[in-house]
Amino acid sequence: CGIVGVTGTSQSVSVLIEGLERLEYRGYDSAGIYVNDQTGNDYLVKRVGRISNLKNALTDEIHGTAGIGHTRWATHGVPNETNAHPQFSADERFYLVHNGVIENFEQLKEEYLSDVEFKSQTDTEVIAQLVDRFVVEYKMDTQSAFLKVLHLISDDSSYAFVLMDRQTPDTLYVAKNKSPLLVGVGDGFNLVASDAVAMLKQTHTFMEIQDREVVLVKPDSITIRDIEGNEMKRDTFRVDMDASAADKGTYPFYMLKEVDEQPVVMRKIVQEYLNEDGVPVIDQDLLETMKKADRLYIIGAGTSYHAGLVGARMFERLTKVPTQVFISSEFAYEQPIMSERPFFIFLTQSGETADSREVLVNIKKQGWPSLTITNVPKSTLSREASYTLLLHAGPEIAVASTKAYTAQVAVQAVLAKAFGMARNQQEAVDFDLKQQLGIVAVGMQAIVDSKDQLESIASRYLATPRNAFYIGRGIDWSVALESALKLKEISYVQAEGFASGELKHGTIALIESKTPVIGIITQDRTAGLTRSNLQEVVSRGASVLTIVSKHLAQADDTIVLPDVDPLLTPLLSVVPAQLLAYYTSLGKGLDVDKPRNLAKSVTVQ
Ligand code: G6P
Repeated sequence: CGIVGVTGTSQSVSVLIEGLERLEYRGYDSAGIYVNDQTGNDYLVKRVGRISNLKNALTDEIHGTAGIGHTRWATHGVPNETNAHPQFSADERFYLVHNGVIENFEQLKEEYLSDVEFKSQTDTEVIAQLVDRFVVEYKMDTQSAFLKVLHLISDDSSYAFVLMDRQTPDTLYVAKNKSPLLVGVGDGFNLVASDAVAMLKQTHTFMEIQDREVVLVKPDSITIRDIEGNEMKRDTFRVDMDASAADKGTYPFYMLKEVDEQPVVMRKIVQEYLNEDGVPVIDQDLLETMKKADRLYIIGAGTSYHAGLVGARMFERLTKVPTQVFISSEFAYEQPIMSERPFFIFLTQSGETADSREVLVNIKKQGWPSLTITNVPKSTLSREASYTLLLHAGPEIAVASTKAYTAQVAVQAVLAKAFGMARNQQEAVDFDLKQQLGIVAVGMQAIVDSKDQLESIASRYLATPRNAFYIGRGIDWSVALESALKLKEISYVQAEGFASGELKHGTIALIESKTPVIGIITQDRTAGLTRSNLQEVVSRGASVLTIVSKHLAQADDTIVLPDVDPLLTPLLSVVPAQLLAYYTSLGKGLDVDKPRNLAKSVTVQ
């Protein structure tokens, strides 16, 4: 979910709507705003579906000097207007937006609110009602009531809250635990939102909120307290990103823009991380810490996990340190037997994924060092890990991750080279990453320039089938998994990424006449074997397509990739797969950027 709040401007409605539009990637089941003009008028508007539905429901009459807004990714309760946020107390005094899950909301309801009739199925309404109860019946002031409620919420809960009280309508009561939220500092007005991009039009100055802190945001003041009520000092920081970096310009969808940006991102990574001689510029302290490790553990979810699968191969080859990759939601709840001196690498585009954060919290308790590789400076996982490396990919808005994946692969390559060199590994010294990333950038450009070909392949082979397969071996298998995920998430084709050799051990039963099977072939050692596996499905009627490195290409291959170092082929082989997914989705008339049921940043476990 995405949250925004503002106080101290007559433009509240438009600030909230613009903020929500920027946050829509976090969920888009339903959305709502509450605004108050401090002269006795207030308005609550909620709609199911996209922010555009909410926007269409607004009239000129709806105005305010302070307000809160929310875009929802449903956890408790189906997406309807009643369950949409803001939620409010029965007497319509308190209005609350919330991102996260209150694990003990049923207990709180039973213990304190058994006489109350609830309108919604949300855990959030319970919190709004509870604040009201403490204020109205226990005669507490709002701030104390809010604090009391926070104390009653169980530790395993997650929340980002912005509460408004009709009787103090210039004040936002703000708190967070695990879910992201930060303050935007203005001149005569202040804001709060789930991320900085949502506030960039209004300000470039921000203030962090830490877990279990409570913040009172008024037009001219920001007061931070810990949960015991002690006032905390906090510096501001600047984010110099241009708000327009998050615009899609003339592109029909963000995803296409982000696919097209990949060559630029590769060059940016070279510029940020490799010096003139191609030597990685990486914090020495980080490398010293890594040198003490006997094993690397890479943790990620979704596309980031897939980037980790590629990264592990790079680390093992260039550093000779054993490396394992884990899905964060698995590692979090069943930690394997660990090596003696583990080092953790968290891959997370947003830096906010709750499952990944859970692992970070657990491993920190065990005293182990960590690095977060993320696209978002100051994000939660970046703040909480021992070290951070930034992806420098620019904001990624489309739910399907593209440039963040290739950036994660490239930054891992930089780190693997740096770490390998620190360990005196000749292979790392010899790996000419700077030159190779230059080749990658040119190669990516050639692929994105052949969009027409990919569009026609998508319409010919992928428009109608229910199922599709990507197959490959080794590093090509890792890319097959990511390629299949792209196709699934935006075009709703049931796609699977499979190890080529494993297909015949069961899954081949799914191959029917015209089932698309796309082979990824970039590695000398396994090219022949994957081709044999493709033959096996051809003889069972499949429509076979190939994505092949140039030096391995044959006359009838479908997509030929420029040659590059075998460790970096994922940077090229994934691009046609991204575009095939894009054009399949587009051809079906789907919302490419906002596929059903998904959210870009999942801040619940
Ligand atoms: C969500 C997104 C995926 C993303 C995953 C991990 O599920 O829909 O595209 O890969 O979260 O996100 P992160 O920000 O941690 O990389």
